[in-house]
Amino acid sequence: MTKRPRHQLHRAEAAIRHRRPGPRTGTQRETAAGLSAVGEARAVERWTPASIPGQSGRLAIVTGANSGIGYMTARELARRGAHVVLACRSPERGQTALDRLRTEAPSARAELGRLDIGDLGSVRDFAGR
Ligand SMILES: NC(=O)c1ccc[n+]([C@@H]2O[C@H](COP(=O)([O-])OP(=O)(O)OC[C@H]3O[C@@H](n4cnc5c(N)ncnc54)[C@H](OP(=O)(O)O)[C@@H]3O)[C@@H](O)[C@H]2O)c1
Repeated sequence: MTKRPRHQLHRAEAAIRHRRPGPRTGTQRETAAGLSAVGEARAVERWTPASIPGQSGRLAIVTGANSGIGYMTARELARRGAHVVLACRSPERGQTALDRLRTEAPSARAELGRLDIGDLGSVRDFAGR
């Protein structure tokens, strides 16, 4: 692909966004492919868990922390120095997750909290602790 000055890219991008149905010009095709590749590369470069700034002095309460996204969130915040509360409805699954977190992030400051967000009584108890 030919390298084009930035202002030409902007113009070509605008042409793509406002185009009428019909075939794209060669420049539009090149620019669309180029912008898409650049966007993907930037998205990949932009963020990893290492991008999370220091969290020391912060308390993070993570719901759904015994699995999936919640667990990963809890672990990465703990790795960055937050004190993390794994807010889980099942004590057993919560304890398993806490054990795993302590293995994967040995310096973590983490604890377990009992919370079923589908039960307002449980939410009240959790908030009162
Ligand atoms: N995975 C993805 O790629 C993705 C992408 C975009 C959005 N999301 C959304 O992000 C959320 C989490 O996704 P995930 O993949 O991490 O799901 P997941 O593994 O199913 O995690 C759900 C977590 O929420 C907990 N939970 C469910 N009901 C609860 C309740 N009443 N009280 C307290 N905790 C409760 C579960 O605990 P139990 O073990 O006790 O059930 C589990 O720890 C979901 O809403 C999902 O739709 C996921």
